[in-house]
Amino acid sequence: MQTIPLVGRGDFSEWRDAARALAAAGVSPREVDWRAGGPDEQLFTAVPPDLPKPDPASQPITVPPAFLPLAEAVVCHTEPGRFHLLYRLLWRLQSDRRLLELTADKDVAWARLLAKNVHRDGHKMTAFVRFKEIAGETEGRRRFFAWFEPSHFVVARTAPFFRRRFADMDWIIATPKGTASWDGESLIFDTRPGENPGHGDPTDALWRTYYASIFNPARLKLKAMQAEMPKKYWRNLPEADLIPGMIANAEEEVRAMAARAASDPPPFHHRLQDAARTAAQALPANADPFDALREEARRCTRCPLHCTATQTVFGEGPRDAHVMMVGEQPGDQEDLAGRPFVGPAGQVFDAVLKEAGITREKLYLTNAVKHFKYVPRGKRRIHQKPGREEIEHCRWWLSKEVELVRPRLIVALGATAVYALSGERRPLSQLRGRPLAMQGDTILYPTVHPSYLLRLPDEAERRRHHALFVEDMKTIRHLAETLAVAG
Ligand code: URA
Repeated sequence: MQTIPLVGRGDFSEWRDAARALAAAGVSPREVDWRAGGPDEQLFTAVPPDLPKPDPASQPITVPPAFLPLAEAVVCHTEPGRFHLLYRLLWRLQSDRRLLELTADKDVAWARLLAKNVHRDGHKMTAFVRFKEIAGETEGRRRFFAWFEPSHFVVARTAPFFRRRFADMDWIIATPKGTASWDGESLIFDTRPGENPGHGDPTDALWRTYYASIFNPARLKLKAMQAEMPKKYWRNLPEADLIPGMIANAEEEVRAMAARAASDPPPFHHRLQDAARTAAQALPANADPFDALREEARRCTRCPLHCTATQTVFGEGPRDAHVMMVGEQPGDQEDLAGRPFVGPAGQVFDAVLKEAGITREKLYLTNAVKHFKYVPRGKRRIHQKPGREEIEHCRWWLSKEVELVRPRLIVALGATAVYALSGERRPLSQLRGRPLAMQGDTILYPTVHPSYLLRLPDEAERRRHHALFVEDMKTIRHLAETLAVAG
């Protein structure tokens, strides 16, 4: 019997080299005792196996192409019999090239099952790793740490995904099954168990805001959610402690949502009557021009959107603000409240402003279009992008706001605002972060809309784009400070 000691923590080459030598020497699977390291520290400095010399008379060892990806996944499983199983398959493949096509074969079926578990575990890792920023930068690169607990040895095979996604930052992903790190040049993998420092960070709070705002109780599928995110992943997620409460409240929330929808906007004729009543209390001729403009906008009928919206959502903020930020149009909650950026996108926006050190109360906040555009679906009102005509009709109000507030810097949040303010129709990806000169000495700074972050399906991407948005806001803050100093 030949004993083959392996570290056995997902490194395919150590098994491959040994298996190739054993098969070339004609050692049958029954004669090999594969021993993987397990948690025993001394085995990480693995004794190289004492391998037999190849039999010069034997045929070269070859495998069909499908074997390699299968074996590369299977070695990452924690099943102790995996090396033996793979060697048996390798041995049998020498005389039966089509073995892997026999899906009912016991060895083939078992190997496929193990590979499936490994693929699934890698997928979980891409979905549930949460980076936390570590203080201090190295050569201008921000540094992040993540702790994750995979079921199998998937860190090395999954790490390239994170290198592609997060190439522009330094990161370490530590797990009990090894650690991967990236410094912009090398992706390094260490098979020793990593340690969890267990620290939270300020972005946890924001992450919880996102999670709470995108959670839709009406769409809650508890079984699917638990299958996708088994409890063992929850404890490392900053949003984990929100989940039980949200699940418990889901039914009540759905009922409340239905009840809220029942208080839909008043029908058009009621608002006309309302407007007529307030017109009777019209402002005096010497009223402040801004108050007069706001009052006039309340009764706007320039485009058909006023027919279905509850009310005009006009801009708010200091009349002498240095910075004006312009969104797209009010959403459902803004329409009911009559104020810009108070719904889910507003919460994201507030969090980003705070992280960038910008005080919302010092900004003038408004939208390109002042009425909520939606289509009713059941009892819900589904947001619709405003069309070109609606933007053009509403531009009249926006240009009046710009004229009265006279900001030095205007931030366009999203493509609709860019178009409304400049007529520019190039994709936002070409315009973002590139200041444009407007009339007078005003500068226009295009960036994304906060709701863009809420729409990203992938959590890791959302975190990344959140960080980019914060960077944009910091640039805006510096730009505003420079313009203020320049007078
Ligand atoms: N989206 C916007 O563009 N503006 C708001 O006020 C709210 C959401």
